Amino acid sequence: MKINVIGVPLNLGCDREGVERAPNHLRERGLMQVIRKNGHRAFDLGNLYVPLVSEADKFARSKSMKYLDAIVEVNNNLAELVYDTLRGGAFPLVIGGDHSLGLGSASGVGKSFEDFGIIWLDAHGDLNTNETSPSGNIHGMPLSALMGMGSEELVNIYGQGNKVNPQNVFLVGTRSLDEGELALIDREHLSVYTMETIHLKGIGFVAEDIKRKLKERKIRNVHFSIDVDSIDPRFAPGTGTRVSEGLIPDEFKDFVEHMLSTNLIKSMDLVELNPDLDTNDLTTNLCLDIIDYITARL
Ligand code: ARG
Ligand code: MN
Ligand code: MN
Ligand code: MN
Repeated sequence: MKINVIGVPLNLGCDREGVERAPNHLRERGLMQVIRKNGHRAFDLGNLYVPLVSEADKFARSKSMKYLDAIVEVNNNLAELVYDTLRGGAFPLVIGGDHSLGLGSASGVGKSFEDFGIIWLDAHGDLNTNETSPSGNIHGMPLSALMGMGSEELVNIYGQGNKVNPQNVFLVGTRSLDEGELALIDREHLSVYTMETIHLKGIGFVAEDIKRKLKERKIRNVHFSIDVDSIDPRFAPGTGTRVSEGLIPDEFKDFVEHMLSTNLIKSMDLVELNPDLDTNDLTTNLCLDIIDYITARL
């Protein structure tokens, strides 16, 4: 398969340094070689440009969303690159950077396919709006905006485009939700597979349940957004918003394998690796192992 690797050295959505270094760090540790070893034609499209900002820009455009202008700009460009990649018959592999980039990547997918679903593998919901966010960090807001909820500026990234139907959104590994996110989940009846559910029923059950729903709803295209913090911090300490009681790597791989076996996954993000917060490159090596595991199954 043809795979386009797109680096997004963005840290404005989490307002913390280090995560912007992940794309290059993974490259230096052999990212492209890992993908090519699995028989793919892989192209490194480089890193997207992230505007230079100062502390003064933080709330310049919005009191409730940090660095709004720059984040919108980056995501608009990312959406176009993902759209182009899909139109060219290639698989976009987007490497972050913080999870606000999900706005752009999934919007590119939304323009490419009339019907699509999103799997959000994450300790968090990323379902806040600017009105419910406790932090003002946009990496906690992308998934609500992709469904058309929240601030106009985020909802309208890449034009008013194709939003994802809440019925076709699946959150997995969830274990840290804010009040406003819980209310949204209730209101929209979102499919949320918490760590509690995973521990109770097993990751295999969860995967089968998602596969069944995708089939029932005749979804043929899925964007798979992976936040490294879905994995337990014992195995993935190199991330900015750690939450204990996460997936162990075997559960993570089991889930990924199930999802890839559907052949519905059309694009993917891997986000929130922060090499500065890592111990002995443990998380970097796990990410490379994950990319190896994934691309061996694409
Ligand atoms: N819920 C918190 C917030 O909205 C944390 C979000 C963490 N998101 C992430 N992509 N790691 O600020
Ligand atoms: Mn996230
Ligand atoms: Mn997260
Ligand atoms: Mn466990």
